[in-house]
Amino acid sequence: MTDLPAQKLLYIKTYGCQMNVYDSERMTDILRPLGYGVTETPENADLVVLNTCHIREKATEKVYSELGVLRRLKEDKASSGGQMTIAVAGCVAQAEGSEIMRRQSAVDFVLGPQSYHRLPEMIARAHRASGEVLAADFAADEKFDALPLERQPGGVTAFLTVQEGCDKFCTFCVVPYTRGAEYSRPVEAVLAEARGLAAQGVREITLLGQNVNAYGAGREEGGLAGLVERLAQISGLDRIRYTTSHPRDMDEALIAAHGTQAALMPYLHLPVQSGSDKILKAMNRDHTAADYLALIERIRAARPDIALSGDFIVGFPGETEADFEATLDLVRATRYASAFTFKYSRRPGTPASGMGAQIDEAVKDERLARLNALLEDQQKAFNAAMVGRTVPVLIEREGRHAGQILGRSPYLQAVHAEGPKSLIGQIVPIRIEAAARMSLSGVLATVPA
Ligand code: 5AD
Ligand code: SF4
Repeated sequence: MTDLPAQKLLYIKTYGCQMNVYDSERMTDILRPLGYGVTETPENADLVVLNTCHIREKATEKVYSELGVLRRLKEDKASSGGQMTIAVAGCVAQAEGSEIMRRQSAVDFVLGPQSYHRLPEMIARAHRASGEVLAADFAADEKFDALPLERQPGGVTAFLTVQEGCDKFCTFCVVPYTRGAEYSRPVEAVLAEARGLAAQGVREITLLGQNVNAYGAGREEGGLAGLVERLAQISGLDRIRYTTSHPRDMDEALIAAHGTQAALMPYLHLPVQSGSDKILKAMNRDHTAADYLALIERIRAARPDIALSGDFIVGFPGETEADFEATLDLVRATRYASAFTFKYSRRPGTPASGMGAQIDEAVKDERLARLNALLEDQQKAFNAAMVGRTVPVLIEREGRHAGQILGRSPYLQAVHAEGPKSLIGQIVPIRIEAAARMSLSGVLATVPA
């Protein structure tokens, strides 16, 4: 089962040409996976779409008079506790745009013929605007939309949630529907919590958010870079990390901070999902492969040794062998230190779940194996390059074997060494002697007094 059960009613009224009839069918197809079944009358509809035509005289006035009728239906529905979303699509929408919303306030949104793929996004935004909670329709999926659990205080590292929600509407993802709009906690609240953690002995914090680098967007306080700068002033807090970021929100100030803020660790999780422009477009990522590579170049100019990590989806609907190879090319060009890879899975209610050209499981498996092999080679190479270097390691706990201590390098690699547990909570130099794919081992470079 890939669609949500039909539980909402869609009424589409189509004006004009054969093209509009076709478009109305497409809109119905796009909305079916979201749980919309078609109704022939507007009275009980949850969503009404007027698919308009501009050609005939008086067409626009006809639309306005129809909207007048719909407004009354919407009011009736609201007074009995229901909700009706009204959208105007087609050529009148294209031509009149926001004029329609100005003249008829019952209209929730308008969209032109080029934007039908954005219907689910527009509906979700309209629902958000009216305060409706969308999460009930979606089964939560820990694998894809859960943030790492908050760690219990008491350790030397801690997570701190600074941002929630997502406004990006990638077509494969449920987060914008389940978690709602992007929201950033106030700076002072974050600073207070961070001071509290530092007072308890926390030396490293990881700032969390579904779109953490959109932190403070639209506010005056300097975004995530500004927050990092202020956190870095908290005594005892020596290391700051953040995850997860979207390429679109990687602004100049944050890039620069990687070069100027010593506390900001040289590690960046920056998902790209695919290296094919065609697939990136179908995913609604709003960037190309070249944009991403140019961004990586700027980040490396600010911080040449940065460890890069990413998320990848193989087997998105319509992905050809050439599209997949474009992903491999992007990986080769980027050189990752680590990565998370996923086979595309249809999430009911998301636009991609209703797309044609779904990919065979066997093909997905084969692509995933090839991508993983390449990324594993890169991870091994990144780790192997550490051998012989001395790196500052924040010791977090005792290791599995007696006399062993375990911590993390600035690049988030697990590092173990022989040493006393009294070093837990300290940052000590360790000379790396051996590297495996998932961890490094070494010896204390200077034995502290
Ligand atoms: N199918 C496969 N991978 C997905 N992700 C999110 N939704 C899906 C899906 N439907 C992956 C993306 C995202 C990560 C957290 O999970 O790569 O960045
Ligand atoms: Fe989902 Fe991340 Fe895309 Fe938001 S940016 S829709 S959370 S994959």
